[in-house]
Amino acid sequence: MHNIQLAAGQIVQQVLADGRNLNQVLDESLRKKAVWTPSQRAALQDLSYGTLRFYGQLRALLGLLLHKPMLDQRIYYVLLVALYQLQYSKAAQHAVVDHAVRSAQMLNVKVSGLVNAILRNFLRSREALLEQAAQHAEGKYSYPQWWIDELQAQYGERSAAMLTAGNMHPPMTLRVNQRRGTTADYLALLSQQDRDQQNFRARLIEPDALQLDKPVPVDQLPGFFAGLISVQDAGAQYAARLLDVHDGMRVLDACAAPGGKTAHILECAQVEMVAVDKDEKRLQRVAENLQRLGLTAQLLVGDAAEPEKWWDGKTFQRILADLPCSASGVVRRHPDIKWLRRRTDIAGFAAQQLDILRALWRLLAQDGKLLYATCSVFRQENEQVIAAFLAQQMDAQLLPIVLPESSNGQILPNDQHDGFFYALLQKN
Ligand SMILES: C[S@@+](CC[C@H](N)C(=O)[O-])C[C@H]1O[C@@H](n2cnc3c(N)ncnc32)[C@H](O)[C@@H]1O
Repeated sequence: MHNIQLAAGQIVQQVLADGRNLNQVLDESLRKKAVWTPSQRAALQDLSYGTLRFYGQLRALLGLLLHKPMLDQRIYYVLLVALYQLQYSKAAQHAVVDHAVRSAQMLNVKVSGLVNAILRNFLRSREALLEQAAQHAEGKYSYPQWWIDELQAQYGERSAAMLTAGNMHPPMTLRVNQRRGTTADYLALLSQQDRDQQNFRARLIEPDALQLDKPVPVDQLPGFFAGLISVQDAGAQYAARLLDVHDGMRVLDACAAPGGKTAHILECAQVEMVAVDKDEKRLQRVAENLQRLGLTAQLLVGDAAEPEKWWDGKTFQRILADLPCSASGVVRRHPDIKWLRRRTDIAGFAAQQLDILRALWRLLAQDGKLLYATCSVFRQENEQVIAAFLAQQMDAQLLPIVLPESSNGQILPNDQHDGFFYALLQKN
């Protein structure tokens, strides 16, 4: 197991020190470990995600435990992983400490005694150290201070619950492909498999959304490869409904990859779908998803901010603008985001979002509807972009939308869904 701890330390280091994306680094690392078993691979994922999820607290703890800076950064990151294991995993404590010492012996034998002392110190004084680490907001909530300040300024008392929700394990939610069957059909299929001890308990939480009691690998879900279901958060499933699509419409999904919402729209109605994304590789994933589900769309590599380069001049009755954003509403799925984003990024996203929205508006037919969507909880990327757009676009009208627990289109992350923002605009 010390190999897993060591590999997790390297992954966390590449994210935090080199600013790399967690999924990419983890994929690269796993590709080199072809001989690892599925449970070793799952453990590597858990240690990497978990350490980043609680990095604010773990860093504060390690700061209290270290009397002078740890010069060997590789050991520093192994220690963070070991603290995560001691605080959040069910692994035997002595084994975690032993593995960290073995890791240190491999990397830098001079500090292996220190590693042992630090971790044993943590175990001896855990309660007092946890209390001390929580004296500062970063150590308490495990987010950068600017993020905590931003949410407090925008949401006041509700911000604490949002910060906590962002550190939970995300639920696994399925979208039933209504072209292939109903949610009742799929629930029956799951309970049939459950009788065979497969442990697939699920409940209906939205018209097409089934939330599983516990996550399972997709390839074990009945009918996944036959296109009966997809994995998609319940909050993301609001998009296709809000867009109000009907058979025969011409629809543009302007930032489509990997195609979750494109597919859902196509499952809801027989429309002529044009799916655009700037990233050719990611667009390939749209093609794969549509193929699995038995759906078709015209796929175009293109920049949504420059439609003149790819648009054929025929207007769309519906446009989905699911724009690039801070992703601050989905941090429990991507804990690296908390540490990779900078406060100044938010204004950059907002400017890009307004640019794309203005460019796409020209493609919308008279009386057509455009759904603006982000997975952000920061107002600068949401309400404020819409307000700036409406202030200048005289033929645009904001339509009322009904969403559970939301009055202004902002959905906050909770145990059923991630954080999203939706605004539905009509062209007069
Ligand atoms: C939030 S994701 C879209 C998720 C997708 N709608 C779904 O439900 O599966 C944003 C996408 O926008 C793409 N993107 C970013 N900037 C873009 C641009 N200027 N034009 C088109 N696509 C862009 C990214 O490559 C990314 O795939």
